[in-house]
Amino acid sequence: MPSRTPYIAANWKMHKTVAEAGEFVDALLPQIAATQSDVVICPPFTALTAVVERRYGTAVKVAAQNMHEEDSGAFTGEVSASMLVELDVEAVVLGHSERRQLFGETDEALARKVPAAIAAGLEPILCVGETEEARDGGQTEAVLERQLQADLAAVEAAGLGGVVIAYEPVWAIGTGRTATPEQAQEACAYIRDLLRRRGAAADAVRILYGGSVKPANAAELLSQPDIDGALVGGASLDPADFAKIVSAT
Ligand code: PGA
Repeated sequence: MPSRTPYIAANWKMHKTVAEAGEFVDALLPQIAATQSDVVICPPFTALTAVVERRYGTAVKVAAQNMHEEDSGAFTGEVSASMLVELDVEAVVLGHSERRQLFGETDEALARKVPAAIAAGLEPILCVGETEEARDGGQTEAVLERQLQADLAAVEAAGLGGVVIAYEPVWAIGTGRTATPEQAQEACAYIRDLLRRRGAAADAVRILYGGSVKPANAAELLSQPDIDGALVGGASLDPADFAKIVSAT
């Protein structure tokens, strides 16, 4: 099995001004200097450049938290892939459950966003995951299958190798209720199997777990065979906490 480089992403959501983002990166870089993992910071749009400029010459990559599927047009409040590429952003989070639940992000839009990101040279970090109701109703696998099929419908098998998938059970996001390592492993293995069935080189795809990842639980989650990294929300706001999660890989 090809070895996969661990991938740890900080999803800041709507946190940190330009000044705060700069302070974070200055504090983080010395703490992760020795890491062999991919470290990705996802600031709000307004702080992208501040992070990009500070990370030049380091292994840190920068991701946006959303983008529009069209390259330009009458879409007030939106940002396109080429606008992100111009800033030297390398990746983009797509389909986060907060965007799906609070901002009406649809699988139809995601089916266009994922290929648009790839075409522009951005690495998509596609988030999928079930609600508590779906898990209690035994629908976890059905939800994951539906989301992945829909969101990746227009991506050819060869392109799937460049997509990062984040398994984020909705009930674990920001709740302090982490999936058990067994639950997270089971879902990530299922996602890998779905990708394999789509003809992807699934052993090469990085699959992350997200949902209340903290320094105290990171090592156990990251030691699971199909969990290749983490998408970290709350615990990514503090450089020392985030550095501890990076060093758990
Ligand atoms: P959390 O968020 O770590 O605060 O649960 C994770 C995410 O939403 O990506």
